[in-house]
Amino acid sequence: MRKPILAANWKMFKTRDEALDFIYEVNGNVPSKDLIDTIVCAPAIHLRTLVKRQGENLRIGAQNMHYADEGAYTGEISPNMLVSTGVTYVIIGHNERRRYNNESEQDVNLKLLAALSHGITPIVCLGETQEQYEHADTDYILREQVKTAFRGVKSVDASRVILAYEPIWAVGTGISAPSELADQKCGLVRRIIRQLYNQEIASEIRILYGGSVNPDNCEELMSKENIDGALVGGAALYPDKFLKMCDICLKCKSR
Ligand code: 13P
Repeated sequence: MRKPILAANWKMFKTRDEALDFIYEVNGNVPSKDLIDTIVCAPAIHLRTLVKRQGENLRIGAQNMHYADEGAYTGEISPNMLVSTGVTYVIIGHNERRRYNNESEQDVNLKLLAALSHGITPIVCLGETQEQYEHADTDYILREQVKTAFRGVKSVDASRVILAYEPIWAVGTGISAPSELADQKCGLVRRIIRQLYNQEIASEIRILYGGSVNPDNCEELMSKENIDGALVGGAALYPDKFLKMCDICLKCKSR
């Protein structure tokens, strides 16, 4: 049994007060951490504030980090710094960072290794562009992304990684990938992990779907076998929708 995950990616939204309002509203209402991992990945500037106020069932994550421990990298944040704020998760390789900040597959690999060695749970984003999707290149892209991301990751660490399949054409569009397709691609990612490692790790590793998930389509997506949870952008900015999706995800995965 893989524990489900509902993770919010707030992206560059919410001031400090707005972030705190959200946390105060959801803290006492998220389901038990024994049943589901509930995570809010917030802008870096709010991390310490939110960690101090996180309830026992909510965890705070970062949206990015550098792979070096320290150095002359103006504006960057190191794994050590994240650890010192108390965050326990970090999103790595989100498509917006790949697109707007030129993050390469190599960067994703280095960040993944750095997160693991610092005890931060990485949420690694994968997914194809619209053009790659139209050219039926999705499987090839996913294979390359997974293979490069896991280069040098030891078997003992592999199942600590969380993967998120986020087809870029479904992110922020309001139209999610069809649930069968999302399930199929998450299944493919699981098979790639089995080929790289073994059956045990493949059946333990958690694979999320992301891309226009909302309270209305959440049940359909979360009832799929290979989808272990969701990484949600826009809809997770609202406490009521966030809580609803936590409940739906938990319900689907306890059937
Ligand atoms: P939306 O849920 O807004 O499509 O964003 C998904 C996403 O990018 C999560 O990382």
